[in-house]
Amino acid sequence: MGRLVIVSNRVPAVRDRAQPAGGLAVALRDAVQGQECLWFGWSGQQIPDDEGEDRRVSIDTVENVTYATVDLTQSEYNGFYEGYSNGILWPLCHYRAGLMNYSRQDRHTYHAVNTMFAQKLAPLLKSDDLIWVHDYHLFPLGLALRELGIKCRIGFFLHIPFPPWSLMRALPGAEKLMRSLRAYDVMGVQTEDDARNVNEGFSAVGVPAQARVFPIGIDPESFQKQASSGLDNPEVQKLEKSLRGLPLIIGVDRMDYSKGLPERFRAYETFLRKYPEYRGKVIYLQITPVSRGSVPEYKMLREELDGVVGHINGTYGDFDWVPIRYLTHPVPRELLAPFFRLSRAALVTPLRDGMNLVAKEYVAAQDEEDPGVLILSRFAGAAPEMEDALLVNPHDADEVADALHKSLSMSLSERQVRWKRLKPDVWRVTAGSWARSFITALAEVRSE
Ligand code: ADP
Ligand code: G6P
Repeated sequence: MGRLVIVSNRVPAVRDRAQPAGGLAVALRDAVQGQECLWFGWSGQQIPDDEGEDRRVSIDTVENVTYATVDLTQSEYNGFYEGYSNGILWPLCHYRAGLMNYSRQDRHTYHAVNTMFAQKLAPLLKSDDLIWVHDYHLFPLGLALRELGIKCRIGFFLHIPFPPWSLMRALPGAEKLMRSLRAYDVMGVQTEDDARNVNEGFSAVGVPAQARVFPIGIDPESFQKQASSGLDNPEVQKLEKSLRGLPLIIGVDRMDYSKGLPERFRAYETFLRKYPEYRGKVIYLQITPVSRGSVPEYKMLREELDGVVGHINGTYGDFDWVPIRYLTHPVPRELLAPFFRLSRAALVTPLRDGMNLVAKEYVAAQDEEDPGVLILSRFAGAAPEMEDALLVNPHDADEVADALHKSLSMSLSERQVRWKRLKPDVWRVTAGSWARSFITALAEVRSE
């Protein structure tokens, strides 16, 4: 089999290739362990517009992976990354057409950056490479590579949801975008729902292709090891000491409106109102690093969250108790895993999510002796595989509040039974097995 070439907008940062933020980079890094691989994408840097012409590809090899990255100019960053990818495609794919800020100029820049990526990548390719393109930033990349004469097999995987065609067609040019996906030999998505929606789109525009389902996973062994070995870390002990024996509820999400954070905080407020016996008797830690902070909807979300958290802490807090411990900076994974282990319950309540790796990491971090309870949104891609979690509708504050109460009052034996039923799937479909299934499917097709 040829070399694997991964193309994604987000590539783990040079300074910290071990610590990418966001599901895509985390899963891919786990998936490519031990395999010769070229990983092409954005450097994470912005340069002035007049330096775009002369930009070079930077090459940096770490173990088995060669990272080849390009900078984006300021206008490309605005139009391609903030504008079209995260201001238009992201909300639409998360079923939030009302949040989409469509602009023709951004669409133009999106296509221009995809063409630029193809032009920079093409000279690095070998004829027997398998090319695997990732996520909504790069829908048209396959076609752009084909137009440059690239004949390698090219696959595409969408990490986020794909909405029904009746919604997707709100996007000007949706038909063209759908047709451009023909350039791929394999089109992969996370869930059956997503596949049905993509296929509905394909048939609406007369493309004979079919999307296939490849649910993504994590590296459960290493996460579980991190969870147990991390318990000795002084930072973790600091958290444990601060709990003073009270149960910990944890939430870990990028600051994104798809994660249902205002709804979650209001549900927690409902919980404190409905079950006042928990006031002062539970610790809720929410870790929410700022993400895409210059996109207007994300800025507004931050302000909204500051307001809701301030309101809840002001109303229900006491001089010796804070209802929500709220952090907006990232926390290293070697701490996250033992934090999960220490907690009694996790709130993973996105309004819509491609898969949601945090749900799987939470299960991987537990042990049989004293497992925590996962409260999971029915609208996470992970939900169909995790029916032994407490599944909730994140819009229903009472339902989430009741689930919190249930998780905190659940017997040890029920927690153990639920966890034992959740575990096999988390161990069966890993980041590595996900990548192998996709690559095998891609290697099996004959390139045209
Ligand atoms: P998304 O891809 O939308 O961010 P996922 O849940 O699929 O959502 O993946 C998020 C990944 O980023 C997980 O591996 C998670 O552990 C990591 N992550 C999320 N929040 C933080 C944080 N506060 N600090 C460090 N890593 C985080
Ligand atoms: C989600 C997307 C990824 C993205 C990540 C972090 O997981 O599916 O493509 O990389 O969020 O977002 P960012 O905008 O920082 O790359």
